[in-house]
Amino acid sequence: VSGPVDDLRPIEWTGEALRVIDQTLLPGRLEYIDLATADAVVDAIRRLAVRGAPQLGAVGAIGVVIAMDEAAREGWSDARLDAAVDAIRNARPTAVNLAWAVDRMRPLMAQGRDTVLAAALDIVEADERINHAIGELGADWIQARVHGQVRVITHCNTGALAMVAWGTALGIVRELHARGALEMVYVDETRPLLQGARLTAWELQREGIPYRVQADGAAASTILRGLVDVAIFGADRIAANGDVANKIGSLGIALACREAGIPCLSAAPVSTVDLATASGDDIEIELRGDDEVLAFGGVRVAPEGARAFNPAFDVTPARFITGLVTEVGVLAVANGETPARRLGG
Ligand code: MRU
Repeated sequence: VSGPVDDLRPIEWTGEALRVIDQTLLPGRLEYIDLATADAVVDAIRRLAVRGAPQLGAVGAIGVVIAMDEAAREGWSDARLDAAVDAIRNARPTAVNLAWAVDRMRPLMAQGRDTVLAAALDIVEADERINHAIGELGADWIQARVHGQVRVITHCNTGALAMVAWGTALGIVRELHARGALEMVYVDETRPLLQGARLTAWELQREGIPYRVQADGAAASTILRGLVDVAIFGADRIAANGDVANKIGSLGIALACREAGIPCLSAAPVSTVDLATASGDDIEIELRGDDEVLAFGGVRVAPEGARAFNPAFDVTPARFITGLVTEVGVLAVANGETPARRLGG
């Protein structure tokens, strides 16, 4: 694969449908699907055809427009439309951007579909700008502390595929690369759905950014052996006290960074901060199906009868988050600069 990543637009409103990359098929096939009904939106969210907190926000907002169009076409009652919007909002529980975006659309519904569409497209358009700001602020922060070429470890996928464009944690990586300051990215494969091995590796390859995919179990050792200067991952929900819910495995990276004495950064838009959630204890962690863990690439690997424990996310306590990189600045969370203090009204 080749081509500038700026060309990558994983979601696009066609005027009638939301055209999205079906991420379950990557890296083997780059295929777009059109989502034109509320059920199709919910299904795409649940099976991770679309994914990543900021992208889920954009999909949720446009999903409300899709539901309104369907309601008009099919003559739905208000109650049926409300139920469809609820189903979109609740399709995945941890990534707060989804509920945040739908809740922003809901009061506008009385003003008509075009008002909702304009507000939804505002969210889509803001995403790229926000991501570039995160990339620049994060790269500045790192370059003020790490001299020379930077070696990064990252987890899951936080690139253009998790957004509308560019990336958050991976946007910082891209910015470092553009500045000629990036040596290597260690990409955790990110079991069980392999967002690192499938999606992050695919994006980095398109960009010609040097990377190695490693087993998730290698992360602690890579960090303690001194092979990386900084860890950067995303966030699905950030509590008021700075606790960060992110893809399962992020916590282990943060603990290893503390032991190694290197910074651990979480990068996310302000819309991922949920000031109504006091701490990580209050964040609902999505539990997913057994098959994701008990099989690999569709082939069963665990014995028949085995059951799985499959939380999709973990919570890294605020004290391990050296910096929270947002579009409005880098919060020194571990030093007490919590979202509640810095972003609270
Ligand atoms: O289950 P996913 O693939 O939606 O999980 C995504 C992540 O955990 C990302 O790290 C997070 O959404 C941040 S994307 C900037």
